[in-house]
Amino acid sequence: MKAENVILSEDGKSVIITDQTQLPNRTVHIALKTAEELYDAIYELKVRGAPAIGICAGMGLYVVMNNSGENDEESFLTKLHKVLVYINSSRPTAVNLRHALDRVENAAHSERSNGVDAMLDAMRKESIAIQDEDIEMCRKISEYGLTLVKDGDGILTHCNAGPLATSCYGTGLGTLLLGKEKGYTFHAFTDETRPLLQGARLTSYELDKAGIDVTLICDNMASLVMKQGKINACFVGCDRVAANGDTANKIGTSGVAVLAKHYGVPFYVFCPSSTIDMNCKTGADIVIEEREPDEIRTKFYAEPMAPASVKCYNPAFDVTDAELITAIVTERGICRYPYTESLSKLF
Ligand code: MRU
Repeated sequence: MKAENVILSEDGKSVIITDQTQLPNRTVHIALKTAEELYDAIYELKVRGAPAIGICAGMGLYVVMNNSGENDEESFLTKLHKVLVYINSSRPTAVNLRHALDRVENAAHSERSNGVDAMLDAMRKESIAIQDEDIEMCRKISEYGLTLVKDGDGILTHCNAGPLATSCYGTGLGTLLLGKEKGYTFHAFTDETRPLLQGARLTSYELDKAGIDVTLICDNMASLVMKQGKINACFVGCDRVAANGDTANKIGTSGVAVLAKHYGVPFYVFCPSSTIDMNCKTGADIVIEEREPDEIRTKFYAEPMAPASVKCYNPAFDVTDAELITAIVTERGICRYPYTESLSKLF
């Protein structure tokens, strides 16, 4: 299987991404060559989803250094670290970004004294390995996911945790996509996910394209469909899991978890183990990105939907308390509460 959303060009001079801001209306590929282009693509959500950001950044770090013309080892490593810090500052919440950048930087260090070409070669290999591992991990996560559901289940999704956000299959959507291949029928209810509509624009697009029954709902309809008994489980991805199981994901996720608890619906979080940050004790230590107010006021509207003078608060993520999470599904197995114990056993 090959990823289509983020590709390292043959000549190693660019990272080619599917511009997710253009979907579902247009499939546009763009080539990223400079640190600034990478930063903007990540900040503007042209590439988004925790694992995909990491994959793109890792390949991007290699590309920028490959294009740098630097051939003195020490200047190469100094510049590399500067670029890493800059790209890492594009979005603060997803741990995968720093994780992938560190891996690619460490690969360069492992070839110290062997020359810049050897460093570049190690960086290229490491950045490709991150993507290959993600494909493998998503497949395993999806297999574990299938043990938690049965044919015909109704699944509520929030945000987008499909192939676009990862590499193949996805995390939160992987169970549905793999299940489809194996002949399961699922009925997905997809929160549109205000304000940037990743559920409407990306999840409903990916599920529909795969031939999975999907019904788009506004975020404030989740309570009703749960009450009506249409939902057997909630599936979400995540951007960072703290050591105690508190989990940061797209804004609105914690509200879904509270509702699920109220209606007795299992609430599952799916992620590769690289999204678990054992250095982060609880959700209170997770930095929550705050984005531009105009994403609420004007984005996607023909005319502003609020007076320009009105204040808007636009946190991009929230933290779901560990107690509300039925299980965290990783490629290494399924963890259950209390997560302080079950997550530490993974490592
Ligand atoms: O702001 P986004 O679209 O990057 O937020 C993404 C999410 O919250 C996803 O659910 C998360 O990154 C998991 S992707 C497998």
